[in-house]
Parts: sequence; C-alpha cells; structure tokens
Amino acid sequence: MPENAIEPHVFVIFGATGDLTHRKLLPALFRTAGHAPCYVVGTSGSDWTNERFREGASEWLVRSGVDVEGARAWADEKLFYASLGPERRDFSALISLIATLEREYSLPGNRVFYLSVPPRGYPFLIEQLGCCGLSDRNGFTRLVIEKPFGRDLESARALNEFVHRYYREDQVYRIDHYLGKETVQNLLAFRFANILFESVWNRDRIDSIEITVAEDLGLEGRAGYYDRAGALRDMVQNHLTQLLTLVAMEVPSGFNAKAIRQEKIKVLRSLLPLDPDRDAVFGQYVGGTSGEKGYLEEKGVQRASRTETFVAVRLRVENWRWQGVPFILRTGKRLAKRMTRIAVRYHCAPVALFEQQGSTCGVCPNMILITLQPNEGFDLRFDVKTPGADFNLETQQLSFRYHETFGRLPEAYETLLLDVMMGDQTLFVHADEVEASWAVYTPLLNRSHRVYPYTAGSWGPPEAARLSAQT
Ligand code: BG6
Repeated sequence: MPENAIEPHVFVIFGATGDLTHRKLLPALFRTAGHAPCYVVGTSGSDWTNERFREGASEWLVRSGVDVEGARAWADEKLFYASLGPERRDFSALISLIATLEREYSLPGNRVFYLSVPPRGYPFLIEQLGCCGLSDRNGFTRLVIEKPFGRDLESARALNEFVHRYYREDQVYRIDHYLGKETVQNLLAFRFANILFESVWNRDRIDSIEITVAEDLGLEGRAGYYDRAGALRDMVQNHLTQLLTLVAMEVPSGFNAKAIRQEKIKVLRSLLPLDPDRDAVFGQYVGGTSGEKGYLEEKGVQRASRTETFVAVRLRVENWRWQGVPFILRTGKRLAKRMTRIAVRYHCAPVALFEQQGSTCGVCPNMILITLQPNEGFDLRFDVKTPGADFNLETQQLSFRYHETFGRLPEAYETLLLDVMMGDQTLFVHADEVEASWAVYTPLLNRSHRVYPYTAGSWGPPEAARLSAQT
C-alpha cells in the first residue's frame, strides 16, 4: 500500500454493540491500525461508556488471536463510544464526541459512517447524517452500507434513490464481503495476468461453469432474518452473482473501479431472462439420520415455512464470448461441507482416441477448479498415460495452494475497510449493479415454487442435478 495513502479520519460505526462489529469490524480495524490514522467511534441505542465499549472490543480481539496487551492498548487509545439514546434518535452526544476528537487530534474533518444495523434502520440514519451537519464538512464523507440492499428490484431502487438524495455515488460503499476475499480478487489476476488461461476462456473451449457456495452451518441464530430472505436473496443475488460477473466479464480498460464495474454491469445486462420452471431448483433441509434438526424445527422459523435453504439456478450470458455456455450457481445451508468453488469444465476432445472401457479418462478430463475457501487455490486437471506397456490414462492435476506459498490470507473485512479509508471503490457494488442483479432474479421472486427436501449434511436435493444434465 502506498505510504500516507490514508488521510486521518473518524470511523463511526452504527450498531456498535452488534455481532458484526465485534466479530469482523473491530478485528479488521485493529489489523489495519498500522496503516490508518483513524479514531473509531461506536454508537448504538445502548447506554454504554467508552470503558464498556473498549472492554468488549478487547475481549473479542483476544478471541480473534490478538494478544491481551496489544488489544487493550489499541482500544484505550483509539476507541470511543456515544449513545443515541434508547429511541436511537438523539445525535447530540455523537456530534459533540466527533467534534471533540477532531479538535483534540487536529483531524481534518474526514468521516466514514458504517451502517452495521438492520436495513429498516438505514433511512432514518442516512437522513439524519445528511441533515444534522455530520456529512457537511471540508474533509471526505463516506457511507458504508451492508447487504441486503433491498429485497427485490423495486425496494433496491427506492433505497438507491434515497441514498442518492444525501450522498453522491462516489461516497457510497456497498459491501459484498465476497469481493474482499483475497481469492476472489485473485480471479482478476488469474484471468488478466495470464494469457494462457484468458485465451481459452470462452465458448469455443468451455463447456460449462459451476459456481458453488456450500455451507455446512445452518442459521446460526439468524432465523428471524433468514426465514424472510431465503438462499436466493441471502446468497445468490449478491455473492454468487458477483462471482459470476468476475468470471464472465471482459478485460476492463484499466484496473480501476469505473472500468471494472462497467464490465461487471455489462455481464448482468447480457444475462438471458430466467425461466422459473426450467432454470431453478429450490430446496429446504430436513432432519438427517444422525438426529440433526430439519429447517422447520429450527428456533424462530415459521412452522409451515417454504423458505428455501438451497437454490440452484442456470444462467446464460448472451454475448459473443459466452453464448451457449451454462453458468450453474448453487448454494445451500447444512450441506455436506463448507466449500466455495468455481469449476470451469472444458469441452471433450472432438475424437476419443484413447477410449477405455468404463472410464471417463481420455474423453473430457480438462477442468480448472478455483477454490475460494477453505484450502484456497487453483487446480488444473488433465490426463496422463500411466507407466507400462498398456496405454492407460489417469486424470491428474497441477495444484497451487495459497497457504503453502503465502501463509495467512487477510480477512475480507480488513481489505474492504482499508479500501474505504483509501477511497477505492473497486471492490464495492455500484447502485446499477445492485439493480441489474435484482432484475435478473425478478422472475424467481415473489412467486410460489416447488421446494424439494434434502437431508441435512447431503449435497442438496437430487433434482438440482437436472440443471447440469440439461445443458
Ligand atoms: C452472508 C450470509 O452474507 O454470507 C450468510 O448472510 C452466509 O447467510 C455468509 O453464511 C457466508 O459468508 P462466508 O464468508 O462464510 O462464506
């Protein structure tokens, strides 16, 4: 990172007593502290003090592997707290704390506002920040918004319009934490730094692309939110679709936010309309044989809920590069294991020269597997002849694993928060992207569809396989 790339600023977190703040934001802010001259102000409705906020933060930092002294020293020096009162409507303590910090530490008025609150809280906060003078300064003001950005095209449009009443698009940082993952950013390097791959990255060579985000975990206490959202809204419209755009986009005219976002939006606008009956399969987990709970038995889930915990969709990018190549996106909770992977399957050889009985070797072995988590890396599969007089083939792979070469990878939030501080929007989602992405899934939303059961701990409903089979 360039020296002095980050100007001194105040970083305000709304929802400072919440889970995301403790588990992700504070550890990320701690790890970026060496680069960022930043004072963190936590705020929420709770009647906390600086001391209470610092104590809680230190505990979470220690849990995330930071040593006790380091955690405490950072918290004492950099963390502050102001309450918004029980109704969460009184900004006076926050305004005066920010003014005091800016005066005492001679800060130039730069402010980041991070909304780590449920979406229903956005309008009031955005309006207040716009109206109470907190955004109206000499320095920069940046607004960071967590997903979900709406629950369909209409609500996303309304939210964007509302945000734009108070903030220009270049001040808005919509977080999709998948874009902060090191391996996701590496998709760009893999494709655009290596002519070897880019030259076979098209319909002439590629048969299909599968993007899988499998989770072994269930609801983790979030039934209230999840039961109203479901897998399509929670994962596909954002994380999986972002992965799709990075895999399918054209070479951008430069490595900057504008050029990259333009290419991603072009992908979204080239997607053919989804046919709900042919292109999507929904599923919901039921109890496993070893006594795991089914979705309907989870605490907080409506008894007759038809919310999908699994979804697979088949998309087609109708452009010169991808015409005819199916993109299968698949995600689910309580699947067999945690795994995020992009599988790029190459065409079969036109003539099977080495046909072997009962074997797929020598027919279509070529595949690139990009594993985004865990055990991040790339694998390239191909066939080799096994030694001996007989001409037998076996599929082998060349593999690269990040941790073997680079050790620890930074957490997504570390990367994203640093980018917010530097004012780099490359890894954030533009308003047009959000809307284009909701538009893609409109045919599947708000319509009743069949939900197939799958056993907790399996790979999802068997019916999903038909999406790959009918390519
Ligand atoms: C979140 C979803 O955005 O991403 C969660 O709301 C999901 O339901 C999580 O578990 C997955 O993120 P990761 O980084 O663990 O793959």
